[in-house]
Amino acid sequence: MEMAEREEGSEESPPEVEIPEAVVETARRARRVVAVTGAGVSAESGVPTFRDAMTGLWARFRAEDLATPEAFARDPATVWAWYVWRRRLLEGVRPNPAHEALAEMSSLYPEFALVTQNVDGLHQRAGSTDVIELHGNLARDRCEVECGSWPGRTDEEGPPPCPACGRRLRPDVVWFGELLPSGALMTAFEAAEQCDLLLSIGTSGLVEPAASIPRVAHASGATVVVVNPEPSGPPGERMIHLRGPAGIVLPALLTRIREG
Ligand code: OAD
Repeated sequence: MEMAEREEGSEESPPEVEIPEAVVETARRARRVVAVTGAGVSAESGVPTFRDAMTGLWARFRAEDLATPEAFARDPATVWAWYVWRRRLLEGVRPNPAHEALAEMSSLYPEFALVTQNVDGLHQRAGSTDVIELHGNLARDRCEVECGSWPGRTDEEGPPPCPACGRRLRPDVVWFGELLPSGALMTAFEAAEQCDLLLSIGTSGLVEPAASIPRVAHASGATVVVVNPEPSGPPGERMIHLRGPAGIVLPALLTRIREG
């Protein structure tokens, strides 16, 4: 699929995107759909991804210093400040047409599961409900000793004490080396095993266990459609790559599904 580039600041309508007929047919016939999203779905909102070469967060910061329990134990103030910075960044962004298309798509299917690795809450802000969050959410803090979670704070000096027990609060996100929330993980894999169509959107597919979700769906007989401007693995049977930004590809796909 070829796509014209969007002009900066242009008022014109977005370029036409050609969605292959096979994808349109599969998406129209599907009854059980899973969408798995990663940082790329929020890129057009202005939220940095992790692994894009120049702009990704992990090109500028070291995950070992900021996103591990060891880093928090060693230097809680620095880790806290990084999450405060990311929370503030989110205050100035909005959901983009990719988030909106996914929110609308859910009403087209008897079963639609939206699974995200993102912690930015933009799917919910676009109107998606029952979002399966694998890596937590920046909008919350939680007590380091598990007594509960609270709205995420943006105190410069941190981490603040837990309102219940006085121990430290930490962002309610999953760090490297930590387990994912078991309920969310189980729901995601069950949905993947049972779906007809899995959309893998804006993820490099390098972080497990989330990276295995499309593989499980494919092995269980689903068609997997990857939406990403960068090349992915070789195409294969029931494996299709729609190459382009999610904010353009997903609205185009939604339009074609509705035409049916
Ligand atoms: P990555 O930064 O690894 O990958 C982002 C993907 O989005 C890349 O494949 C890009 O090519 C693609 N992309 C960029 N712009 C896009 C656009 N406009 N439309 C569609 N795709 C686009 O982010 P994730 O795969 O989400 O974990 O990373 C997975 C996890 O690693 C994150 O949840 C985070 C990170 O470390 C934790 O913090 C636990």
